Amino acid sequence: MNVYDGQRIAAMLKARGMVETDDLSDADLIILNTCAVREKATNKVYSALGRIRRAKKESALFGIVGCVARESGGDAFKRIPELNFVLGPQSYHRLPEIIDNPDIKLLNIDLTGLEKFDELPQMTTSPNVAYIPVQEGCNHCCTYCIVPYTRGREISRPFKDVVADTLNASKTGAIEICFLGQNVNGYKYTDENGNVYRLSDLIKYAATLPEIHRIRFTSSYPTEMTDDLIEMFGMEEKLLPFLNMPIQSGSPRVLKLMNRPDDLDTYRTIVNKLKSVRPDIQISSDFIVGFPDETDDDFEQTLNIAKEIKYINSYSFKYSPRPHTVAALMKNQISEQIKSVRLQRLDGQLNDNQREFNMSCIGKEMVCLCEGIDKTGKHLVFRTPYMQQCIVESVDANIASLQKIKITDANKASLRGEIIK
Ligand code: 5AD
Ligand code: SF4
Repeated sequence: MNVYDGQRIAAMLKARGMVETDDLSDADLIILNTCAVREKATNKVYSALGRIRRAKKESALFGIVGCVARESGGDAFKRIPELNFVLGPQSYHRLPEIIDNPDIKLLNIDLTGLEKFDELPQMTTSPNVAYIPVQEGCNHCCTYCIVPYTRGREISRPFKDVVADTLNASKTGAIEICFLGQNVNGYKYTDENGNVYRLSDLIKYAATLPEIHRIRFTSSYPTEMTDDLIEMFGMEEKLLPFLNMPIQSGSPRVLKLMNRPDDLDTYRTIVNKLKSVRPDIQISSDFIVGFPDETDDDFEQTLNIAKEIKYINSYSFKYSPRPHTVAALMKNQISEQIKSVRLQRLDGQLNDNQREFNMSCIGKEMVCLCEGIDKTGKHLVFRTPYMQQCIVESVDANIASLQKIKITDANKASLRGEIIK
């Protein structure tokens, strides 16, 4: 979502004739787009602000947008008096005001809903992958999560607006569509005639566009994987056989404390249904270790579920107490040291899963999407249908973006392959 927000902000500034610079000391406008989901991210924002404050030229306008802006509000001005603006995740369409009135201080952290989607220009050129937000906010109240506070309650965008963005992306170079939302599979929009649209309808529409070859969506809440959506994996070949469906913990007791679905059998049933319509589907998850009151035994259950579901690519985090959340006030907070040991053990398991899956791909042929040339300048980087990185010895950036590739080697982090001529 932040990548998307950053792209929209950049498109808006470009439409006003501004150009990008890599040189901080040369910039006239500096915007930090921020994430507040863990404390570490928030701390990074403040250290970056300190760096920017020292490096920027005197006249440069400078501010923060996104979730840290919403969380900090007016305090941000107290901590960094040079800031010109502090705009929450639903207010960055107000940036032009600050450009036109450089002397004002602008604070807006209201949750205004969908306004920003209407007021920002469409991106005129898409990269191969177009991120398209379908909803914003979250109605789930996981006790550790700051998102319902920073992004607000769920609002789904009108079906016709998402359709228009998808069509536009397909006409301006997108090959892959990634539908986005904090709770993307909660997408539900009822139009003026009472027609109800779900994420499955958006997928069906995107699949009709000849330019679009790959469709995916993130991030999904397990119990909102409704049958119509699961069926899409069997019906629409363009939907990639890869799904991020976070479980967070393998302990029903901890899941209850997290206010997450705590019946592991329900989760297993969803995975099995997905596999029955799309046998090659692979799942990834997010995990939190060291949630308040998590015992060694609870943690062992998390290791077990990671092994059982064979997640192929996951994100794991130490629990981080966040303001405005219930869990931050819970008793039995876990020490940093125990969190670190548990994270290391879980990462060991997740890495084994990932390596095993990557190795199982050797010898297979997959249609992959080119992302560009890597940092060494010697290889092309592709994404497989499972979103693995695949490196190819070629720098011919003029080849078509979709290539059939034979996987020749693999390690934990990535694959290597050759283009099949
Ligand atoms: N501490 C640690 N991880 C968190 N996440 C969300 N809130 C917290 C927190 N307070 C993780 C969850 C979520 C991902 C986006 O970030 O795993 O799925
Ligand atoms: Fe946060 Fe995701 Fe839970 Fe919503 S479903 S509260 S975004 S962790």
